[in-house]
Amino acid sequence: MSPAVPVARRSKALSSQIGLTERIFTNAEDRATAAAIERGLEQVEAGILREVSFADSVADVATRYLLSAGGKRVRPMLTLLTAQLGEGIIPDVLTAAEAVEITHLASLYHDDVMDEAEQRRGVPTAQAVWGNSVAILTGDLLFARASNLIAGLGDRAIRLQAGTFERLVLGQLHETVGPQPGDDPVEHYLQVLSDKTGSLISAAAQLGVVFSNAPREYEEPVMLFGERIGVAFQLVDDVLDLSPRSEETGKLAGTDLRAGVPTLPLLHLRRQAEQDGAAAALLARIEAGIATPGSSDLAAAIEELRRHEATAITLAESHRWAESAVAAIQPLPEGTVKKALTRFADVMVERSS
Ligand code: IPE
Ligand code: IPE
Ligand code: MG
Ligand code: MG
Repeated sequence: MSPAVPVARRSKALSSQIGLTERIFTNAEDRATAAAIERGLEQVEAGILREVSFADSVADVATRYLLSAGGKRVRPMLTLLTAQLGEGIIPDVLTAAEAVEITHLASLYHDDVMDEAEQRRGVPTAQAVWGNSVAILTGDLLFARASNLIAGLGDRAIRLQAGTFERLVLGQLHETVGPQPGDDPVEHYLQVLSDKTGSLISAAAQLGVVFSNAPREYEEPVMLFGERIGVAFQLVDDVLDLSPRSEETGKLAGTDLRAGVPTLPLLHLRRQAEQDGAAAALLARIEAGIATPGSSDLAAAIEELRRHEATAITLAESHRWAESAVAAIQPLPEGTVKKALTRFADVMVERSS
């Protein structure tokens, strides 16, 4: 493969790198669970590496490229966590966690093509290195491997994965085509977030319950939790899209806006611009900046949007979704898992990467 492939920024890419486990399990009593999840995540990491190896050297390099560049492993962590409601991290739970992360990874290759993103996980995106076709095909190869893993878990898992994937794709499609006449832009957008991001995070939580043989009545609360925390998570991602700290986010500021994705801060700015001259002027600068590649004012306008009330409203909305995620798990028994999921919700909305 091309000798020009950039060296991945981080070789070890576990949630522990950003202290996720430590921040979620805060007291001594929960340490045993924290340690089990940390060990489980290492097994997931090794399992994914095994699953994404290809005899074909082009496929092998391209599929490992983003995997070894980093990532928080939020979704498998959630699977391992909800599995604590049942028999814990048993082999089927590990398989499910690996399949979920590989599905996520595949979606990132495709997303970066659609968003014409230049950077992901601190490295140039796959299509920036190899072009669109290789990036799309790499995503497809990963989807194939995720399906193969899921097939080993039986009919229920296959249908669950298919339904999740369908929602994820429809979310991306509806984001691409935008609201139709008569649709409220904010409601349309929130539905897009539920579908493109909430669906997979919800499935990650559900799979942990299903494949650890936990009581069936826990499925609905963790699915709702995943769906809602997924929306909160994606709203924070919209705000991070405005962050100039690309060394922290691993992405370039304004990637979504440049790709024509009207994230929630922009939608709120548009609403305000109907009655507020300063908001209208900022909106005009952003739109002009997007329409003029290389515009020197766009970075400054994005920074103003980041400090604008429209962004504060987005963050407040994200906190409300996180609160409703926590409300959904009230039926779960008191104990480590409930506490950890509550912390997980906080950490997701406080994140800066
Ligand atoms: C990025 O997801 C895409 C979204 C759905 C917001 P993550 O923020 O989980 O990405 P990685 O896996 O940590 O890189
Ligand atoms: C990614 O959404 C969602 C999926 C991959 C399904 P974004 O385009 O908003 O996420 P980032 O900011 O590129 O990670
Ligand atoms: Mg994107
Ligand atoms: Mg996108």
